[in-house]
Amino acid sequence: MTKFVDSSFVKNMREVTRESYLRYWDERNGGNVSYRLLAEEVEGFEDVSEVKATYELGFNASAIAGFYYLVTGTGRYFRNVYDRPTLDLGLVKISEDGKSYDVVWGFEDGGKPTSEFPSHLLSHIERLKVNPEQRVVFHCHPTNLIAMSFTQPLDERHLSRILWKMQAESIVVFPEGIGVIPYMTPGTNAIGEATAAKMSEFQAVLWPHHGLFASGVSLDETYGLVEVIEKAAMIFSQVGAQGGQILQEITDQELQEIADYFGQTPHAGFLDL
Ligand code: 13P
Ligand code: ZN
Repeated sequence: MTKFVDSSFVKNMREVTRESYLRYWDERNGGNVSYRLLAEEVEGFEDVSEVKATYELGFNASAIAGFYYLVTGTGRYFRNVYDRPTLDLGLVKISEDGKSYDVVWGFEDGGKPTSEFPSHLLSHIERLKVNPEQRVVFHCHPTNLIAMSFTQPLDERHLSRILWKMQAESIVVFPEGIGVIPYMTPGTNAIGEATAAKMSEFQAVLWPHHGLFASGVSLDETYGLVEVIEKAAMIFSQVGAQGGQILQEITDQELQEIADYFGQTPHAGFLDL
């Protein structure tokens, strides 16, 4: 058990949840993370054969049958994950028929995975089609990005262009831009399906008036994606605080040049060239 808690990916999970909390992105129970373990990481466990609980999924997860995910618990406070990983984190295995999952480690006080598990698993399934290295889904409540969902049209092209133009390196980190779904009830399979549908095209999806769903191949990469998006949104807020008048900006041509230089392809049709 100790070996597991000290393993690099659990440590990384403890660190990113703490950092996300310290940035005010995870008030109270806000936010959740899931991380797919590699075979060698599963083998590194002392024992994952004991099933502590089994839950129905309510959707078809056969594409990830047999996969193990380390996931934050529902109702848990990111502030606490660092100090109590065996309570606030759990390891689950998706059943071979993709209809349920077993808890095989963690949630020692009887907890269960995040209420957003449908959005996590459906997003994992979709991103795996895009990139077989896909392993992480990270949800949090970044303040400035959420604020933009009140003041800006909920249009992917419009929001992506603002975020790209607020910081010269945004387009390098998320050249596909940011996806947007309509406002929907959290926790439902429906919001999971809508989010996953966007994940075929985008690594990050805005949930208006709520937060962000981001995906990636590692915790660092995924957390970094959230940081870059929220940093751009923060600069946008600061521009507004300084009066909002834009005297000069990065042009669309310059954005294309940045992308070219770093070997990235911006989302088709998002730049006016
Ligand atoms: P959980 O506590 O169930 O993970 O929910 C937090 C959240 O942010 C819901 O969107
Ligand atoms: Zn949330």
